[in-house]
Amino acid sequence: MSEYHVPVLLGPSIDGLDIRPEGIYVDATFGGGGHAKEIAQRLDDKGHLFVFDQDEDAEANLWGATNVTLITSNFRHLTRWMKYYDVIGRVDGILADLGVSSHQFDDPSRGFSYRYDEPLDMRMNRQQLLSAADVINQYDAVQLQDIFRSTEK
Ligand SMILES: C[S@@+](CC[C@H](N)C(=O)[O-])C[C@H]1O[C@@H](n2cnc3c(N)ncnc32)[C@H](O)[C@@H]1O
Repeated sequence: MSEYHVPVLLGPSIDGLDIRPEGIYVDATFGGGGHAKEIAQRLDDKGHLFVFDQDEDAEANLWGATNVTLITSNFRHLTRWMKYYDVIGRVDGILADLGVSSHQFDDPSRGFSYRYDEPLDMRMNRQQLLSAADVINQYDAVQLQDIFRSTEK
């Protein structure tokens, strides 16, 4: 099992996708690739799996499968990417294992965990300029309230 991240509910979540071997699937949160490997193994040479991760570190977990395409992007752009790959309306199933990977928690430099005395960061996509420390230290009360209000829905 990958040290990057141990996938949770692996069997039940893959079974729930009810995979057709020739189908097109999306793993919106690739991470260590545990779920993705299970999906890819159930596809034949006509099937395809698109995987998203906004963290560039996840790319190291690809294993060279020809039926898997990694898209290093936030999955909120999923529709745009499916159009780009000309599979819009043809996706058979989407898996999203939302949250943070163990790798992100375990790497002190990522600033996700209070286990380490490191600067707060918490950017999954390190191309983003804004860290959690910037938000906490520079936003005023009204801006912070706006964030909490928009995420509570
Ligand atoms: C819980 S881990 C997924 C683990 C994966 N299922 C596995 O088997 O290893 C979540 C991953 O999703 C990524 N992620 C979280 N939110 C994302 C988003 N909005 N767009 C793209 N990737 C995202 C994180 O960078 C992290 O690598």
